[in-house]
Amino acid sequence: MLRFVPPAGTPLEVMDILHAWKASVSAKGKEKDSLEALGARLRVRHILGASSGRAALWLVLKALHRLRPERNVVALPAYTCFSVAASVVRAGLKLHPLEMDPATLDADTSGLDTLPRDKLLCILTSNLFGFVNDVSLYKRIAGETGAFLVDNAAQALGAARAGNLAGTAGDVGIYSFGRGKALAAMEGGAIVTNKDELARALREEQSQLRNSSLLHRAWLLVELFAYSALLPPRLYWIAEGMPFLKLGTTEFDTGFPVHSLDSLSGKLIVHLLDRLGEINQIRCANAARITEALDGYGALRFPQPAPECQPTMVRLPVIARDESTRTRAVIRLRQAGIGATAFYPSAICDIPGIERYLAIGNCHRKKAERLSRTLFTLPVHPFVEQRDIERIIDILGALQVDRAPEDVGCQENLSAKRA
Ligand SMILES: Cc1ncc(COP(=O)(O)O)c(C=O)c1O
Repeated sequence: MLRFVPPAGTPLEVMDILHAWKASVSAKGKEKDSLEALGARLRVRHILGASSGRAALWLVLKALHRLRPERNVVALPAYTCFSVAASVVRAGLKLHPLEMDPATLDADTSGLDTLPRDKLLCILTSNLFGFVNDVSLYKRIAGETGAFLVDNAAQALGAARAGNLAGTAGDVGIYSFGRGKALAAMEGGAIVTNKDELARALREEQSQLRNSSLLHRAWLLVELFAYSALLPPRLYWIAEGMPFLKLGTTEFDTGFPVHSLDSLSGKLIVHLLDRLGEINQIRCANAARITEALDGYGALRFPQPAPECQPTMVRLPVIARDESTRTRAVIRLRQAGIGATAFYPSAICDIPGIERYLAIGNCHRKKAERLSRTLFTLPVHPFVEQRDIERIIDILGALQVDRAPEDVGCQENLSAKRA
């Protein structure tokens, strides 16, 4: 039987889509966002919707720049989604990529010292894979420099660190509901803030968005049904065979579509919220089984969230010893029907043509560049079965056979752990 485990996903039933559709029709467009229930869960005063995470981030950056027009630099992790950089560029601002710590996937804030303080508009977190960043540190620096802190929780809905929910730690936060996020509704983004002045500026920006059209709603409905049908591993190979879906590709595109949140997405997001905690727990439990079995093997390292953090683990990140080990791992896993993916294709500073948007020219971030050559991800979502986990452990364990000197002895350990 053909079987391919998708790299990431949120199980979605046809009944969920129908429920959301019915709710959106009976709302008759009266509610702009339908996200109030999410705002209440996140315990925030203001919540606004947008068509995607990148659209949400773009609105945020424009609003912040309007409040502080003399500042135009955004500090962001050098290894993050290209759409973050695209939102900054589209907002007419300059990028200042920060070096990464591969052990935690958090950014190294010492890179802020090279910037003129009065130019820094905001610092962006990234919370990759739902590993919640050290926001207390970011907050202190933002406070000292008079910059805003934007908590980007695109991948971290439901994650927390020391009891604080990801996305709510800064002056303003954003979430994404795109494919592959903690709660996937095909599209959608949210902005949260507790600051009234900021909320006013954000609402002004949001009011300029065009509404999502009926045609768009119809297409979204088709996409949701297709997602629901094709996500289970017994059918996902069909989606994998459709290159126009651009699965697993990361593009730097400043012309991304922007409109208000479709109420179908809004209703679906709120409808799925009750399941989020359980889904994230399954992801974390699957990740722990793989990590425990393979931890300590020289060919691979597992970045770790902070001890007081509960991540979303939208995917399990793994760092290979070198690029060729990553290539072998990804090829072998995919041949075995496991949706392993090499993640972002480069660091932000190496996106072709990015130089003219950098606050400081010629900026290279060696650790971020290395991550882009060695990091890959494993699926851990609720469709991952015990047999998939065993296959992953077998394939990655066997990489040790073509091993580097530091791996000697690891294969024996692996057998012992599996037993
Ligand atoms: C860290 C991060 N920020 C922002 C975004 C943008 O979200 P969206 O795809 O909904 O535009 C993504 C999407 O992958 C992301 O991973």
